[in-house]
Amino acid sequence: MAANPHVLAIAFILSVLSTQWMYATAQNLPLFACDIDKNPTLKSFSFCDASLDIKLRVKDLVKRLTMEEKIGNLVNKASSVDRLGIPGYGWWSEALHGVSKTGPATFFSRVVAGATSFPQVILTAASFNETLFKTIGQVVSTEARAMYNVGLAGLTFWSPNVNIFRDPRWGRGQETPGEDPTLTSKYAVAFVRGLQERDDGDKNRLKVGACCKHYTAYDVDNWKGVDRYHFNAVVTKQDMEDTFQPPFKSCVMDGNVVSVMCSYNEVNGKPTCADPDLLKGVIRDNWKLNGYVSSDCDSLDVMLTAHHWEKTPEKIAADALNAGVDLNCGDSLRFHTEGAIKGGLVNESVVDRAVSNNFETLMRLGFFDGNPSKQIYGNLGPKDVCTLANQELALEAARQGIVLLKNTPGSLPLLPSAIKSLAVIGPNANVTETMIGNYAGIPCQYTTPLQGLSASVKTLYEPGCLNVKCDIVQLDNAKKLAASADAMVLVMGSDLSIEAETVDRVDITLPGQQNLLISEVASASKGPVILVIMSGGGMDIRSEKENPKITSILWVGFPGEAGGAALADIVFGRFNPSGRLPMTWYPQSFVEKVAMTNMNMRPNLKTGHPGYSYRFYNGETVYPFGYGLSYSSYVHHLVKAPSLMLIPIDKAQVCASSECESIDAVERVCRNLVFDVKIRVMNVGEMEGSHIVFLFSSPPPIHNAARKQLLDFQKVVLDSQQRMVVSFRIDVCKHLSVVDEDGNKKVALGEHVLHVGDLQHSLNLKI
Ligand SMILES: *[C@@H]1O[C@H](CO)[C@@H](O)[C@H](O)[C@H]1NC(C)=O
Ligand SMILES: *[C@@H]1O[C@H](CO)[C@@H](O)[C@H](O)[C@H]1NC(C)=O
Ligand SMILES: *[C@@H]1O[C@H](CO)[C@@H](O)[C@H](O)[C@H]1NC(C)=O
Repeated sequence: MAANPHVLAIAFILSVLSTQWMYATAQNLPLFACDIDKNPTLKSFSFCDASLDIKLRVKDLVKRLTMEEKIGNLVNKASSVDRLGIPGYGWWSEALHGVSKTGPATFFSRVVAGATSFPQVILTAASFNETLFKTIGQVVSTEARAMYNVGLAGLTFWSPNVNIFRDPRWGRGQETPGEDPTLTSKYAVAFVRGLQERDDGDKNRLKVGACCKHYTAYDVDNWKGVDRYHFNAVVTKQDMEDTFQPPFKSCVMDGNVVSVMCSYNEVNGKPTCADPDLLKGVIRDNWKLNGYVSSDCDSLDVMLTAHHWEKTPEKIAADALNAGVDLNCGDSLRFHTEGAIKGGLVNESVVDRAVSNNFETLMRLGFFDGNPSKQIYGNLGPKDVCTLANQELALEAARQGIVLLKNTPGSLPLLPSAIKSLAVIGPNANVTETMIGNYAGIPCQYTTPLQGLSASVKTLYEPGCLNVKCDIVQLDNAKKLAASADAMVLVMGSDLSIEAETVDRVDITLPGQQNLLISEVASASKGPVILVIMSGGGMDIRSEKENPKITSILWVGFPGEAGGAALADIVFGRFNPSGRLPMTWYPQSFVEKVAMTNMNMRPNLKTGHPGYSYRFYNGETVYPFGYGLSYSSYVHHLVKAPSLMLIPIDKAQVCASSECESIDAVERVCRNLVFDVKIRVMNVGEMEGSHIVFLFSSPPPIHNAARKQLLDFQKVVLDSQQRMVVSFRIDVCKHLSVVDEDGNKKVALGEHVLHVGDLQHSLNLKI
């Protein structure tokens, strides 16, 4: 999103103008069509009749429009059609982790000065709690509707970002649920359903519209001069099908998302927004998207000026529309669609399709049902934004996501009564905006780490460096504090100057002199030293991991508006940490070896590429995917799992060769191939806690399959000494299948090893 600087500048000017306009009118009314109270003649139009079928209403509307009016509704700043009582609509709002001010259709004002700012997605993902993902979506959509009702937001929000966090350097990894397709898919489905689903259960209507982006294989922003506007992601069919596409597929098919956004990059030589196979073929025909395909912002212009995909903007407009784009974030379609039609490059029927998908979305949102104050969410308003309950959920999300990476006995939790003074040191120790990360809104308020910790004990504060870049360290005061305090919390890491949209990292070590600051104050300290890493991506902190003076390490992501309070709850033992890393933390040597532009998930012996993510990379890690400690310990026992599964099918029917290693995962093979795995888990520690049970499998080593893949996970709350049986329903084709070199789903025959914690169980699949 937010392509070139000039687009940003325009968006900024527009938002300033609109904000002033808003103050000038001071009406705070939402935008909507079919205002029958004001204009009774609109009553005669079928498209305004909320009792009719939506597809009929769309047809009725589109047949009344001139070509110019249709074209005006192919772009994010859609034109009004005054003669039909349709105001201009701004399609671009964002709500990645709270209503954001990034999209030009959303504003904060004196009426709504802030919205609840949840942790950046990577930390929420670390909670592995699907209920939490959905609940956050519900709260965000409630606040979004409330802001719409007072004219401060649109109804279509271009979130979530479900790209796979493939490479640790990616500046936007923070926006994603991490490196695993299963977790990312589950996050996408839960969050989208939370945003979109209405309380009255009307499946065809939407609370707000979500959007899964950026389709597809988009995860390079700007690395060593390679930027997303020029990047051609070379992706194998196999990686496409078992890594990059699954979150989008789940988002559309299980989440029923109303929109997918195509990305800036090319995939295998074609810009994604001009690829009819990817858009019409996969999203529309195979996955049956019910909604609209949007381009990324200005990505049609990028196709012309950066990818040089065609020689004229008319050809680009035609390619995008013909490929399946319905809405253009930007202006290319506004200016060049007419020329494309006149030049015979695109048919009017294609424009009708696009504009119909757009209007249908707005109808499902109630935009054509007259005054929203009389509709289902009409009573929401500023009182429903930043409520205590919503802010409590932001705090809860941060607590549930924070990951305890190291804890020497006797370190955490700290007992407040035993601490006369706590040294709080580091460039991130008292930050506000850093806690919010990318796609920020204006939060209701902030609790910084220093403020959070100071609420429980007396603190002494010293930043140690001017900012996270930490070019110069100020050691003297910091060491004095360290030596005088009973314990120390060091808050280090990064911020958006290090990792962000258009900013990929080159190194994954702590920036600047942070290591020096940490080791110096740690050796000066006399009590426990708690190192807190605030960052989106993983950091090579091996020296801190190995340093015995550093007694605990916590990763807090970018923890949102209540981050400091959540940190304090964990530091002082009021909350038992349960987050687990949603991505591998690699050593610096990894990024020195691997070009970020290498999209291959799988290792390659010839080139020396070690592969990406816990599924394929088998080298040294700083911390692995799924890692995280607790103040309790948990033990697992296998209660039930089959050792043999027979696939009731004739070998001659399905195997081409005699040494048949796998069979196609087709309907007649897959029917009823399900089994249960039951695990008993017990909290053998002294503190109540939440525990995540991960079920992994290692398939037989054929088709270059993953060495290990997450089949499913469940999170349970357990009292001290409590035990519980956790049950997984495993569908052989869905969970145990692998993807072959041609991108086809196969059931691998032979030994699959199931893993839960330290348990391993062997399952044989036979015909
Ligand atoms: C427009 O539609 C006609 C009739 O279906 C078809 O023959 C023609 O190829 C289409 N033109 C374009 C540019 O797709
Ligand atoms: C910590 O940050 C808050 C919020 O920006 C600020 O009000 C406060 O003065 C800072 N505290 C110190 C000790 O610098
Ligand atoms: C998951 O999150 C919800 C919502 O915050 C919470 O009520 C529940 O306890 C969490 N589940 C676990 C197992 O921690």
